[in-house]
Amino acid sequence: MARRMCIRAVIAIAAIVAAIPVSAAGDAVSRGGSLFLIHCAQCHGLTGKGDGSAAAFLPRKPRDFTQGIYKIKSSPPDIEIPRDEDLSGTISRGMSASGMPPWDKVLSEPERRDLVAYIKSLSDMFEGEANPPPLNMEGKAELTPESVARGREAYLRLKCDECHGPEGEGPSTKALKDDYGAPIWPRDLTRPSTYIGPFTREALYARITNGIPLTPMPPHPRHGEPDTIAQDRWDAVNYVFALAEQAERRRTMYWAAGIALAFLGAGAWLIRARRARKSP
Ligand code: HEC
Ligand code: HEC
Repeated sequence: MARRMCIRAVIAIAAIVAAIPVSAAGDAVSRGGSLFLIHCAQCHGLTGKGDGSAAAFLPRKPRDFTQGIYKIKSSPPDIEIPRDEDLSGTISRGMSASGMPPWDKVLSEPERRDLVAYIKSLSDMFEGEANPPPLNMEGKAELTPESVARGREAYLRLKCDECHGPEGEGPSTKALKDDYGAPIWPRDLTRPSTYIGPFTREALYARITNGIPLTPMPPHPRHGEPDTIAQDRWDAVNYVFALAEQAERRRTMYWAAGIALAFLGAGAWLIRARRARKSP
């Protein structure tokens, strides 16, 4: 009798242990689902199809999570799904002026992780797939003036200027549409604060290599075109990075000069006003 009870207890414990990973993942999905209804559904829709009641008022269509296709992905080009880190990064940072808010101050890190588990559960694309590795970053060029100069040539050779303008300063074309059929402008590369993805050299390399899915920003090498070597892409990254940093620095200098001039002007006016009052 005691032996049978003992065996039963062992079987019960084994069953509980076997069920733990499944139910832990399941719990993350159900916790994420509750958070989703409170914080995300008004834009992304109750079933995550990007059709929430607020969607019509946003500058861009919120992502349809049932498709499993994402703009920001640092996984290798031949793997369609993004990495968990891409999803949690986007949720934390938001996507600049696109209408997707940053959640890092509102939701805790475990909550954002649960949301990642939930939005992955909405698409077949992730079913049975492990979190992909990061794409190959081999051939990384140091940020040197030589690489930036080569990058300027690569930028023109890879025809980035056809969309982003010869100096990266803005759209060469306003006729492009995204996969939802809505107009989309190539980014002004000199304003990193408007980027929808992170502004690091590694993240830029991933975006230039993978392109931006759902938009006309192509992957490199482009489909059906001769291969580009990794060095061209790293040089182009360094060119864009340097361009954006210089433009930001210039803008800060103009601001500082503007404020200094305003103070000088106000000072001169005060001195003159005081002299005028003193003179009979
Ligand atoms: C105010 C509306 C709004 C709310 C609320 C909102 N989003 Fe979004 N979200 C958007 C828009 C718009 C986009 C598409 C932006 C783009 O394509 O540039 C987007 C895109 C995304 C993406 C896609 C990133 C990619 O790489 O393509 C993820 C992931 C995401 N949202 C997660 C969430 C989560 C999780 C919540 C809730 C915590 C949430 N969003 C709440 C508007 C919203
Ligand atoms: C056919 C047009 C086209 C070409 C060619 C193109 N881009 Fe883009 N690019 C776009 C569009 C459109 C966007 C904006 C996507 C969005 O906001 O969702 C973009 C966005 C970007 C971004 C901003 C990413 C962010 O986080 O917002 C960078 C950086 C960039 N492109 C670099 C390049 C470089 C470098 C090249 C050449 C190697 C290039 N692009 C070629 C259309 C293009």
